[in-house]
Amino acid sequence: MLNEPIPFDPAHDLDALAASGALGGNVALFRQPRGRDLLRRAAPLEEWCALRARHGVWPYGRTLDGPPAPMATVEGDGLAARQGINFASQDYLSLAAHPAVLDAAMRVLAECGPHSAGSAILLGNSRYSGLLEEAIGALLACQHVTLFPTGWGAAFGAVTALVHGSDHVLIDALAHASLRQGAQAATRNVSAFRHNDCDHLRELLAGIRAVDAGGAILVVTEGLFSMDADSPDLPLMQYLCREYGATLLVDVAHDLGAMGPGGTGAIGAQGMLGRIDIVMGAFSKTFASNGGFVACLEPSVRRQLQLFAGPHMFSNALSPVQAATVLECLRIATSTEGERLRADLMRNAVELRALLHEEGMRCIGSASPIVPLLLGSESATRVAGMLLAREQVFVNPMEFPGVPLGAARLRLQLMARHTPAQIRTAARKLGAAVRRALEAPRPALRPSDQG
Ligand SMILES: Cc1ncc(COP(=O)(O)O)c(C=O)c1O
Repeated sequence: MLNEPIPFDPAHDLDALAASGALGGNVALFRQPRGRDLLRRAAPLEEWCALRARHGVWPYGRTLDGPPAPMATVEGDGLAARQGINFASQDYLSLAAHPAVLDAAMRVLAECGPHSAGSAILLGNSRYSGLLEEAIGALLACQHVTLFPTGWGAAFGAVTALVHGSDHVLIDALAHASLRQGAQAATRNVSAFRHNDCDHLRELLAGIRAVDAGGAILVVTEGLFSMDADSPDLPLMQYLCREYGATLLVDVAHDLGAMGPGGTGAIGAQGMLGRIDIVMGAFSKTFASNGGFVACLEPSVRRQLQLFAGPHMFSNALSPVQAATVLECLRIATSTEGERLRADLMRNAVELRALLHEEGMRCIGSASPIVPLLLGSESATRVAGMLLAREQVFVNPMEFPGVPLGAARLRLQLMARHTPAQIRTAARKLGAAVRRALEAPRPALRPSDQG
């Protein structure tokens, strides 16, 4: 623990909290500290985080004790409650504690040991990684698959390996940081199109083609947006890419396995299996392991990634235990048991959204494992997150850089094994906490708070 929490009675102390300074400021203010002393110039950031932690409104870097279950034990700065209903972990189909998954992981741990012995190109592959590549290729009807040790590495690696300085990237304005940072590292020719706006995308494609007939264009979007719970029109996007000679990359980190017919995510739900140029994903949301992949119909893309995607080439491969874990999760996700788990997950999503609506709350997006409650104000989001943790409900209060400034929100991530009773309790407590937080005194906004 960094800091001893200040004892807090929410019935009386919200004024004091607002006056403390812990509700003001944002991370953007500290992004580029000045001065030549690299070791000390981030001290103001440290003080600001410590102030927030003392007042119970630093909800990051907490520790989960045990598996990411619907009821979990959490420790962290300024956190009063330890046990609570957990909407802050990613395990959409509740596979992390599934007996068959644990069994597969333990069998392969005994067989192969705990780590991968090199990067994938240097004997880091195993029988299990080969089977996993085949299984993902079959699920997506996209047979050439490259594995990565993290989803972040798959996104960053795919964009940087495929795009050069004279190429272009058109990326959804709300795409994940791994994709945005990949685009920025690959080329200066990066433009963002308005979120899920195909008219804007078409305009930007036409603008590029008017001046550059020969350069490559990579269009980047997600199957299910992780902070907004919505999806793009994939057939139209792929059509636009063909029309303008561009290539489409779709990140399915949050929907693959958890949604769509047979767990095929937004791509399957929109009838686009085998018809998207490049599909990438992360295993960390539904498949109970770190890791990621890129799938494509072109064998040469796989070769390009193997040799030029830094996180594949120059980082140790997924371990055999991780590959076997994902493989077993895939087997379950594509079975009738997987259908039942997806139905339970969706029942929870629909129920929670309806109950929150009755509480007068507005969830953005549509029914999916992600339920975002947009509050806008950073200070209200911090207060709501803190009040909820005290009421034994753990959610992730999201603010910049996870979401744009002024678009702070509470993000809940559901699991198939959340019970109807947990959903009802959480909705009631969410309603009360959000109302209280929106009425709470706000810190006076200084010009410097704008980032
Ligand atoms: C859309 C998206 N892509 C990629 C990633 C990176 O995946 P991982 O955290 O498994 O490395 C994430 C994780 O937050 C994500 O939300």
